[in-house]
Amino acid sequence: MNDEQDPRIYDAKTNAFKTLWDKIAIHRMPSYANKIFFSLGFLALTSLLILIASGIVLAFMGHTWWTANPFGVYTRSVHLWAVQAFLFILVMHIIVGAITSGFRAPRRMVWVFGALIFCLALIQTEFGYGLRGDFASQYRAVSGADFWNGAHLGYWLNPLNYSQVFALHVAIIPITILFIFLAHYILEKTYGISRPYRKDIPVKMITADHRILFARGTVLAVGILVLAFFFHSPYVAPVTIAGTAAQNPGLVATTLVQEFKRTSDTATYLDSIDPYTFDTRQVFVAVPYQQSLHGGHATNAWAAFESESADRQQADIQEAEAYATATDTSAFASSTNPVIAMVNTLVPMAESGLYESLLNQENPTINSTYTLRFLNDMGVLEAKATALGINTAEWGMTKDDNASAFSLPPGSWWLAPLGLVNTAFNLLSNPNGDQIGGEILGLVMILFILFPYIPYVNRLPEALNLGPLIWGKPEPTASGEVQGDEKSDTGENGDAPRE
Ligand code: HEM
Ligand code: HEM
Repeated sequence: MNDEQDPRIYDAKTNAFKTLWDKIAIHRMPSYANKIFFSLGFLALTSLLILIASGIVLAFMGHTWWTANPFGVYTRSVHLWAVQAFLFILVMHIIVGAITSGFRAPRRMVWVFGALIFCLALIQTEFGYGLRGDFASQYRAVSGADFWNGAHLGYWLNPLNYSQVFALHVAIIPITILFIFLAHYILEKTYGISRPYRKDIPVKMITADHRILFARGTVLAVGILVLAFFFHSPYVAPVTIAGTAAQNPGLVATTLVQEFKRTSDTATYLDSIDPYTFDTRQVFVAVPYQQSLHGGHATNAWAAFESESADRQQADIQEAEAYATATDTSAFASSTNPVIAMVNTLVPMAESGLYESLLNQENPTINSTYTLRFLNDMGVLEAKATALGINTAEWGMTKDDNASAFSLPPGSWWLAPLGLVNTAFNLLSNPNGDQIGGEILGLVMILFILFPYIPYVNRLPEALNLGPLIWGKPEPTASGEVQGDEKSDTGENGDAPRE
């Protein structure tokens, strides 16, 4: 029935909300569509709305509130459990759509829009963890940056840049998801719930039972609120340069020399894509050292180093390296080496926390790129991850702390395929592993999005014929044929649009 044929008369007594509901909801559907399998889209929307509501509160109240205040920790936990529900329900929704061939023409774009949402949701979760502000955020940001660099997107996406992650997570991606969802749903509402691909299964059209739909939504919402009350989102204290310097000043000194010599992990990073194309000598040594001069240093070691001959500079760097790794530094007591002087200025600054602030100030945005890269170059991120039983190939992504994989709340199990790809292709020991991993996963995503358009492959679910598991026993009808307000089947899949 289209708008012109709509017999309803809208008069002064018409309730605007009822009109909206009539326009928005799907009212007539095949009898099997009152089953929970076809409530999954609505339940995904319910979790998305909880995510948006809790996310807005978190963004509004800020970092200290969500890590320290009990209500903040609870809201963060609600957000995390809503993520768990959202992803789990989406996976179920995808399985139902796939095995009932609900993606066939004319609903191919319904799938495409849905699949785009799913890919965005996966990306969204990683940026969400990046905002938490604990060790998981640090480790995931560094691993994630490798992934984006490998996927050739490092120029636009830098998970170490907090401002960028915040904008993406609280505004750009959710708004994009909402727009794509509108396209997904308007199409689905227009075409109605798909009917079986098997013509021998008779379908009776019935009125949708929205009460049961809302009852399911309420159970889900209450479930999320209760689980969040008992099982909080974890928080593992982050690693800091000050903390590392207090325990191991020699490590800071050695790393400073490596940055100066341009031999650190960051300086030799393989993918020459932003954000790691900066000069480590400038960023980690020259700039913070010169900043410290404002504090009243008599001599300028950086200027002294710059005025030296190339050979002298090399010799000074060699000596500084020996100094940084020496257990007994008394032999260097009378050294006038400017590199050693700079290291000796920066190490106490690292211990006091000043060095970290200066690194962060080098960027115009709230951006931890330099701090995190320095922590990475010291090897302390990897060391803590190993101590916690986290590794990039698997649980680094899927588990945040040293709890068992089966503890609550669960880690990001939806990223397990990443671990599988890494392990199956032995990518961690491959110098181009990030790039290969990024390309494989990019290809998988494209195939997943375009699935309804791939000939033969898109017929696979029909060949497996698992649809009856979802539809159940056919409803007996008087004629045993299609009933209700349907026209006869004429579409490609025996599934003409309802208009
Ligand atoms: C924010 C995420 C999503 C929301 C809120 C959502 C919502 C919905 C709703 C309300 C329906 C109609 C009723 C139902 O079948 O549940 C639907 C149908 C559908 N969705 Fe989604 N969806 C989402 C994501 C996805 C994803 C990730 C896919 C697949 C990759 C997908 C594929 C489909 C298909 C194929 C149908 C048609 C089913 C049929 O007519 O038999 N959706 N969606
Ligand atoms: C598809 C929707 C969304 C997904 C999948 C998602 C995912 C996540 C995840 C996994 C976290 C980490 C949770 C944790 O700390 O354990 C997170 C955190 C956060 N999210 Fe979202 N989010 C979504 C929408 C939003 C929206 C719409 C906002 C704000 C308008 C938001 C704001 C935040 C904030 C401020 C944090 C940091 C606090 C925290 O650690 O939980 N999120 N998000």
